[in-house]
Amino acid sequence: MPNPFFYGGPITEPQKFFGRKREFRVIFGRLSTTPPQSVSVVGERRIGRTSLLYHLTQVYSQWLTDAERYLFAYVDLQSARCHTRAGLLAKMLEALLQQARLDRRSDDGQWLTDLRERISEGEAIDLPCFGEALERIKALGYRSVICLDEFEKLTARPQEFGDDLLDSWRNMAQFGHIAFITASKVPLELLSRTGRLTSPFFNIFAQVPLGELELDEARELITQPSDRPFTQVARSEAELAWLPDDPGTLPRGAHEALRRAEEASQSVAAALESTSRYRRVMGLERARARLDELRQSLAYADQRVAGRLGPVAEGWREVINAELLRLAIEEEAAIEIPQVYIAGPPVPGEEERLFVGREDLFRTLLDLLTSPHRCPPLMLYGQRRTGKTSLLLQLPRRLGPDIVPIFVDMQGAANVEGPAGPLYNLARAIMEEARRGRRLELPPITLQELAAEPFIVFGQWLDRVEEALDDRLVLLSLDEFEKIEECIERIGTGFLDFLRHLIQHRPRFVLLLSGTHTLEEMGQRWSTYFINVQPLKVSYLKEDEARSLITNPIDDFPLNYEPAAVEHIIAATRCQPFLVQLTCQELVNHLNSQRRRNASVADVEAALEEASVRGEFHFAEIWNTADAVERQVLSAVSRWEDRPPTLGQLRRRIRLEEADLKSALVRLCRRDLLELQDEGYRFQVELVRRWWRRR
Ligand SMILES: Nc1ncnc2c1ncn2[C@@H]1O[C@H](COP(=O)(O)OP(=O)(O)OP(=O)(O)O)[C@@H](O)[C@H]1O
Ligand SMILES: [Mg+2]
Repeated sequence: MPNPFFYGGPITEPQKFFGRKREFRVIFGRLSTTPPQSVSVVGERRIGRTSLLYHLTQVYSQWLTDAERYLFAYVDLQSARCHTRAGLLAKMLEALLQQARLDRRSDDGQWLTDLRERISEGEAIDLPCFGEALERIKALGYRSVICLDEFEKLTARPQEFGDDLLDSWRNMAQFGHIAFITASKVPLELLSRTGRLTSPFFNIFAQVPLGELELDEARELITQPSDRPFTQVARSEAELAWLPDDPGTLPRGAHEALRRAEEASQSVAAALESTSRYRRVMGLERARARLDELRQSLAYADQRVAGRLGPVAEGWREVINAELLRLAIEEEAAIEIPQVYIAGPPVPGEEERLFVGREDLFRTLLDLLTSPHRCPPLMLYGQRRTGKTSLLLQLPRRLGPDIVPIFVDMQGAANVEGPAGPLYNLARAIMEEARRGRRLELPPITLQELAAEPFIVFGQWLDRVEEALDDRLVLLSLDEFEKIEECIERIGTGFLDFLRHLIQHRPRFVLLLSGTHTLEEMGQRWSTYFINVQPLKVSYLKEDEARSLITNPIDDFPLNYEPAAVEHIIAATRCQPFLVQLTCQELVNHLNSQRRRNASVADVEAALEEASVRGEFHFAEIWNTADAVERQVLSAVSRWEDRPPTLGQLRRRIRLEEADLKSALVRLCRRDLLELQDEGYRFQVELVRRWWRRR
């Protein structure tokens, strides 16, 4: 009997799709955007954290449209090799490189092949090498995804895997060199607190808590047959070889059963030839019906017939089921609303539609940079997740050709030894960004050249750069500038002196610092080093800008909103860009899971609920950075349901000195958490209030 299933290769354990569809939808939705977005899976062991993570690496090709571009690596942090930094980095690269197709003819291919060999010989890998490898893997067109199981093993060793490692990982993830999927028993935010880690690494993650399997998913899991390799069906021919050629001599029931099997096989063959999905599904369903009849007929057949044909029919049925399932998933994907929202990494610079607003800031910047007067140093500041980095990444498109915007992420740049390291990273960023944004080739410089007298050699290099600039102006943006503080602790104030010198004596350079602190908050040293700084604040989007992001993120976006639903998102997020993107991302997941395209206020409510779970780290960060008094105040304010409480009401509720209460309120207002309206204090963002109330 011919095996009708020889096409397209095996179906990998499709029954695993039955459970965790919701979680897969979130995870693969996030991995499919540019850059891919990271996810943290949280749940007790028995709930299947590890198996979920492992199966991601098995089934991703069925969920992602350009799956061949993805390298999925699974690393269990419990294994001894992963207890040291060098071991872990090597293990991660090894797992990724195992899957990459490397061609020695390209420079990157050659470099990575050599690296793979060096790793297999046991060579230690440090962070810069790891970063370079990821960059090169990306340059080959791959997207690297690392699944890190038992993540608590990493945060339990803050000496080995400290903030500097996490900061660099965040830097790599922000720019699409890698996406992480971590699994842990408790939320990452808690792990970072117990490990005393302060890195914002975690705030690019969405949290996916694993609850119990949903009832119908669990039922499907139970009723599904156990794993049966596809190849077993191919052996069915041999299994039937005992049958005599002459039908007359067949045992009881064999003839009828074989006829049904043959019909089933014909239906499958027809289904496979058909190009229409509908016909294919019909054909497979017909085949399944024949196989059911076959199984029923075996009840009256000779025992030998039942014994041989029963398992064969069972095996065929499973493969048909799997194929029907695959078609159903494919069909579902076809009507899905595309998941375009980015909630975590900064919006990439090339992205025009998913980045909205900030027009006033661009205008101010342009005015300052093109004015006949020397542009003062600039300070871009705002709360976490307000879009500082996203804004900086837009600058190449938004500033004229005479301004060369250079973006440097100090998270990555500052985390190296000695003064030469940060300067070399700075030089590299300047060269690369000038080339990428303005096609400008600047004179080269190497780490060796810098090593002996870093600041002097760097200064000489800048002289040459200035020559190459002609009339152009460089806007040097140092993102996460607070990292420089750590640099100073390690290597002294040389870097600050250098920056001040740049401001004072290099008119072709304008310095922009970007971070969550103002200079005053950074203390005396900073405000004496940097005087006359022009602050630029990044805060909420305007309503119209948020509306355009919600309703119109791509051309012909197939999601239709009731007008009130859009307003509900705006009211609950106050147009905080991250929260808008996160809520929309959840709304798309929610509607796709129900195969709908129209969003009502109730749908938005469901999405807001999910967003408050996914965005755990963002909310928890507010908790972590508040002091005891501020926490008390925020908790109290969050519980006032009707009218926002006045100072007097709060005083009666919280037992605090009036002066302490007042100064906490001032700080919370300044941090854009509370605001005073008609004498009452209220949360600026409703979603944040909900989180505090629930705590
Ligand atoms: N102008 C914008 N338009 C649309 N979405 C935005 C915009 N700016 C930021 N976002 C959203 O906010 C998220 C965070 O952006 P970004 O990383 O730029 O913030 P950040 O201020 O640099 O945060 P952090 O202080 O944590 O580094 C993005 O993932 C995106 O969802
Ligand atoms: Mg940032």
